[in-house]
Amino acid sequence: MALTDMASLLRDYRAVGAFNFVQLELAEAIVLGAEEAGAGAVLQLSENAVRFHGSLAPAAYAALRLADQASTPIVVHLDHATDEALVDEAIALGVPSIMFDAAHLPESENVERTREVAQRAHTAGVWVEAELGEIGGKGGAHTPGVRTNVDDAVAFCAATGVDALAVAVGSSHAMTHRDAQLDNDLIRRLARSVPVPLVLHGSSGVADSGIDAAIRAGMRKINIGTHVSAVMTHAVRKVLSTDSTIVDPRTYLAAGRSAVASEVARLLRVIVEGHIRVGAPGSTS
Ligand code: G3H
Ligand code: ZN
Repeated sequence: MALTDMASLLRDYRAVGAFNFVQLELAEAIVLGAEEAGAGAVLQLSENAVRFHGSLAPAAYAALRLADQASTPIVVHLDHATDEALVDEAIALGVPSIMFDAAHLPESENVERTREVAQRAHTAGVWVEAELGEIGGKGGAHTPGVRTNVDDAVAFCAATGVDALAVAVGSSHAMTHRDAQLDNDLIRRLARSVPVPLVLHGSSGVADSGIDAAIRAGMRKINIGTHVSAVMTHAVRKVLSTDSTIVDPRTYLAAGRSAVASEVARLLRVIVEGHIRVGAPGSTS
């Protein structure tokens, strides 16, 4: 059994890679990549992906079973949930970590709703991530200028009791070019003052060197979604464009799965290398 919880994973690693999946083969690829790298990872499913499937349980159970069978520690995480009923359902299904995303609400409402969700989740032993300073890029908006204020972040954590905080530091969701410039000085100031691990969303738009620098500045959870989807889609497109007689989905899904597994392994080496904690799987001690 390699299904684990976020607190344990973050105890072992200075920073962890968290990858979004939409369908089964992408989830399999993320676990395969983590196994190839010999590193723990987070397998996350967003509320948007749940909406695509029409319900949470089939995808969540698949992720939980993949984690169970993995040879490396895997956390299953519900990502960007705005619907409290969905959070409660995930907790009931045994998902050990959730992000409650009320960053779009007025701040007092964000605090109040997040505090209530955190209380319920903690009663069930579930880890809670929240967001302050809306990270751009969803719904087409590209707003890399948004920044989280340090004092606001400290106050938000105290008022809500969350376990991790997603902060706006220059990244933006759904980027297909890895050229976002992060504010590492702000990350350093947030990491010094905020009492919980910091989460970098929209990491698809950040180059390897930017991810490495962000971790050195204090980022602990690196969320990557669009990039792994793009790798899968490009690999599938390449197979389909070379042979118009293909009808068996396994033919192209195998190519997509294998490409994503290699890229996840490579990214995990970037995230973990130089940042591994003594005692973590893969460390030399
Ligand atoms: O919550 C998920 C991440 O923030 C993924 O963002 O698709 O831009 O990498 P991304
Ligand atoms: Zn995100």
